[in-house]
Amino acid sequence: MSQLEFDHRLVERLERLYATRDVLRRRGLVRAALGAQRGDRVLDVGCGPGFYVTELLETVGSGGLVVGVDASADMLAVAATRAQGHDNIEFHEADATSLPVASGSFDRALCVQVLEYVRDVSAALREMYRALRPGGRVLVWDVDWATVSWHAIARQLTRRVLATWDRHLTHPSAPRVLAAQLREAGFEDVGMEAHPFATTELTPDAYVGSLLPLLEQYVVEQGGISREEAKAWADEQRGLGERGEFFFTVTQFCFTATRPG
Ligand SMILES: C[S@@+](CC[C@H](N)C(=O)[O-])C[C@H]1O[C@@H](n2cnc3c(N)ncnc32)[C@H](O)[C@@H]1O
Repeated sequence: MSQLEFDHRLVERLERLYATRDVLRRRGLVRAALGAQRGDRVLDVGCGPGFYVTELLETVGSGGLVVGVDASADMLAVAATRAQGHDNIEFHEADATSLPVASGSFDRALCVQVLEYVRDVSAALREMYRALRPGGRVLVWDVDWATVSWHAIARQLTRRVLATWDRHLTHPSAPRVLAAQLREAGFEDVGMEAHPFATTELTPDAYVGSLLPLLEQYVVEQGGISREEAKAWADEQRGLGERGEFFFTVTQFCFTATRPG
């Protein structure tokens, strides 16, 4: 096992992670930066369990269209259930580097925490550029996992856990080169905003509260960290949480850009 597999086992964990207050805040930031309007046609690349597509249906109204693309059939099944009852939504199982959509047919495209898993990021950006109409706007959101700052007593073990976690994706620091890659793909007006997700409380409604069990399981499956070590590491964090000594932060980056008119 290496990169995370977005199968039915992960769907359940992601559902929990995506209900946390941090991810709710993130969805609000994404919607505001995307700026979709009534009647717009919106493409969500790597739509996952369908939170964005469902919320965007409200924004675009019955005169608009929302299209979700994802490489995982399990994710698409959950997204389709979430969006039930709407007829102006479509789903496609496809890779981000080969979008099954007509050129120039969208006003907005978003891609949230997906490109860090995609080997050929430039190809995916070129596809989003192709899908957008001239003047259309793209939003790309990714995490730089090197920005994690995590208080621990077992610092060496924490470093090993985080190094192992980095293997869950292809590009652990994808945002560092995204601005240049967007320009290379043809986009202009490239903007970037950094959003720290920081907490001193290990509660289930914080991003890190749901991330901890996911990490604990993943690093064991990945190999190199024993089940006992992973449990000891997670127990230490839970203990820090109980004693009011917890600290975690990670910075996530929101890029926006326009296809020239
Ligand atoms: C971390 S989830 C994000 C889901 C959604 N964008 C959100 O923020 O709610 C990453 C998603 O990207 C999808 N994905 C990963 N690699 C992909 C690829 N090459 N092409 C299309 N989708 C991909 C996964 O199946 C998964 O649903």
